[in-house]
Amino acid sequence: MGDAAITLRLPPLVGMDENLTNLRQQFLDDASSVSSAEQLTALRDKYLGRKTGLIAALRKRVGSIPSDQRAAFGQQVNELSTEVDAELAALTQRLAAATEATALERERIDATLPGTRPRWGHLHPITLLRQKIEDIFVSMGYSVEDGPEIETSFYNFDALNIPPGHPARDSADTFYVSGDLALRSQTSTVQIHTMQRKSPPLRVIAPGRVFRRDTPDPTHNPMFFQLEGLNVDRHITLADLKGTLQKFVQLMYGSNIRTRFRPSYFPFTEPSAEVDFSCYICGGTGCRVCKGSGWIELGGSGMVHPRVLETVGINPEEFSGFAFGLGIDRMAARMYDIDDIRLLFENDVRFLEQFV
Ligand code: DAH
Repeated sequence: MGDAAITLRLPPLVGMDENLTNLRQQFLDDASSVSSAEQLTALRDKYLGRKTGLIAALRKRVGSIPSDQRAAFGQQVNELSTEVDAELAALTQRLAAATEATALERERIDATLPGTRPRWGHLHPITLLRQKIEDIFVSMGYSVEDGPEIETSFYNFDALNIPPGHPARDSADTFYVSGDLALRSQTSTVQIHTMQRKSPPLRVIAPGRVFRRDTPDPTHNPMFFQLEGLNVDRHITLADLKGTLQKFVQLMYGSNIRTRFRPSYFPFTEPSAEVDFSCYICGGTGCRVCKGSGWIELGGSGMVHPRVLETVGINPEEFSGFAFGLGIDRMAARMYDIDDIRLLFENDVRFLEQFV
C-alpha cells in the first residue's frame, strides 16, 4: 500500500479565517500521508470526531467570535467541515481502489507459467511380470482363475492329497486363522475350486498371493506370489506338460531356451518333476545369474494325481491332466537382478520407481 500516495488537491479558499486556513492546510498535510484504513479512521476522528475533533472544537468557538463576524465564521467552519468530509470520502475510495489493485497484483495468475507435473505411478514389477506370464498362457488357450486367500483344510490339504500329519499342515508352517481355516500356502488350492466349478476340458492359470511361516531373509518372505497352471482333458500326457512349459520359457526368455525335468515328489501329482530352464544370460555355460550351474529353477510340476481328480468327481480313467506351480517373485527378482526379495514388498517408492 506504500505507493498508494494520496494527494488532495483543494483550491485555496479566498477570504478564509486564518485559523481555518491553517487547520485546512494541516488536514491536507495529514491526509497526504494516509496509506491505511487505520490511518484513515484516525484522521477522521482527529478532524470530524464529534466531541474531540478539531472541527468540533472550532464550532465551540463560534459563540466567542464577535457578533459581526460570527455568521461568516460559522459558515466557514461548516464549509470546511463539508470539505473535510468530502475529502475523507474521496480518500476512502482511493484507498479502497489502491488496496484492491495491490491484492489483484498479488493474486495475479500467470496462465502461461508451466504447471506442476503430476507424478505418474506405474505397475509393480510383480504385476508387470504376472501380466506377461498371463499373456503367454492366454495365447496358448488358458484362462485366468482366481481363488480365496483364506481356505479350509479341505482345499488347502485334503483335496490335494496331503495326508493328515503331513508337515505342511503344521501350524509352524501354515498361518491358521481358526481351527479349520488357514491362509493358503499354495495356489494349488485353485486347482480344486476350478475343477469343482468347471468340467474338463479345462486349461487355467491362477496367479496369486500365498502365505507361509518363513522367517524373512533375502530369498524368503512369509507372503509371496505363485502362478498355478492346470490342464485337464482326455489323453493329456507328460509330453503335453513338457511341451507347454518348454513353449512358455521360450516365449518368456527366448527361442533358444531349453528345459529339463528332474524327478520329484508332490502329493497332488504323480509322477512329479522339478522344472529347470537353461540360463537366459549365459545360455547354459554358467554365470552369476544361474549361480554357475547353467540352469534356473522354474517350479514344480507333474501329472494330476488320480485321487485329486476323484475327489472333485472327475473320472481318472477318462481324463488326465498336468499341473505346475511357479514362483512369480523369484522370477521377478532374477529378471530385475534384485538380490533381496523383501525389497519387492516394502513399497519403497525409491526402489519401485526403477521398474517403469
Ligand atoms: N504347490 C507347490 C508348492 O507350493 C508347487 C507345485 C508343484 C504346484 C507341483 C503344482 C505342481 O501344481 O504340480 O511348492
